[in-house]
Amino acid sequence: MSEQRKIPVILDGDPGHDDAIAWTLAHASGRFDILAVTSCCGNQTIEKTTYNARRVCTLIGLDAPIGRGCPHPLITEPMNAPSVHGESGLDGPVLPEPVMDVSALGAVELMAKTLRESHEPVTIVATGPETNVAALLLAHPELKPKIKRISVMGGGIGFGNWTPAAEFNILVDPEAAKVVFTSGIPILMAGLDVTEKALILPEDFARIRAIGGKVCSIVAEWLEFFYIFHRNLGYAGAPMHDPCAVMALIHPEVFQMRDMYVAIETNGEYCKGTTVGDFFGTSGQEPNATCILGVDRQAFADRLVEAMEFYKEAEA
Ligand code: RIB
Ligand code: CA
Repeated sequence: MSEQRKIPVILDGDPGHDDAIAWTLAHASGRFDILAVTSCCGNQTIEKTTYNARRVCTLIGLDAPIGRGCPHPLITEPMNAPSVHGESGLDGPVLPEPVMDVSALGAVELMAKTLRESHEPVTIVATGPETNVAALLLAHPELKPKIKRISVMGGGIGFGNWTPAAEFNILVDPEAAKVVFTSGIPILMAGLDVTEKALILPEDFARIRAIGGKVCSIVAEWLEFFYIFHRNLGYAGAPMHDPCAVMALIHPEVFQMRDMYVAIETNGEYCKGTTVGDFFGTSGQEPNATCILGVDRQAFADRLVEAMEFYKEAEA
């Protein structure tokens, strides 16, 4: 098969177990030129997600500049998720201490520098609250043409998870999400509609663990940790929220997608942070997002397991 051109990307996230797995997948896939990694405030404080970003990059051997993100949402106070990811934001297996330092540039300026220097438009993979991406668009609107698309894990057309109507990433910073979704930049949205179906089952953890090597062992432990929280809620497996935003770029064939107009509710007693999807085109607005609504779970799991084989070779 002909060598596919690598997709230049910036990974922005709040590791977070599923962010860590998403980044591990991106690096293993060989399909991306990962130009920069930026931490955002979400699952945990910016201090903790930045430390976790450094630890994950160290573990998987991802040598890219790491930018520390905005310490709080655009206008609201931070909201974290220790109940899901633990006090560290990445509880569970012991990880190596970071060998990568944080860039002297903060996330927004590192993103801007990366966009300026790239010879082609860059894809941003945003798997946490969209604070950094929004700040980039507000501070450097002239760089919009250098952003090819934004692959977002966030929202849900049918339902929320942090409130009945709102998903965590959008709810933490709805103003930021509104900036992103009204930017005119193509959005690929992996919301809960698909991520709740993209389950990795205990049998899949075993397949990854059987590959052998340190990275696969830790990925299996991250999956186990994430699964235990969700098993108590009745899930059959670990929902791969953030990996969907990566997998959709390299294996779109395993998903069902639909273009639609998505508005972000920034107010409301019950619906703040909702991604309001115009499923039937009643708004009269042109679609601003490709929404991922379904997935072939087995194919998704198989592509994830296959990608992890990279780490066996890398450690041979
Ligand atoms: O709602 C799921 C999202 O919130 C994921 O990105 C997870 O990492 C948390 O940030
Ligand atoms: Ca995340």
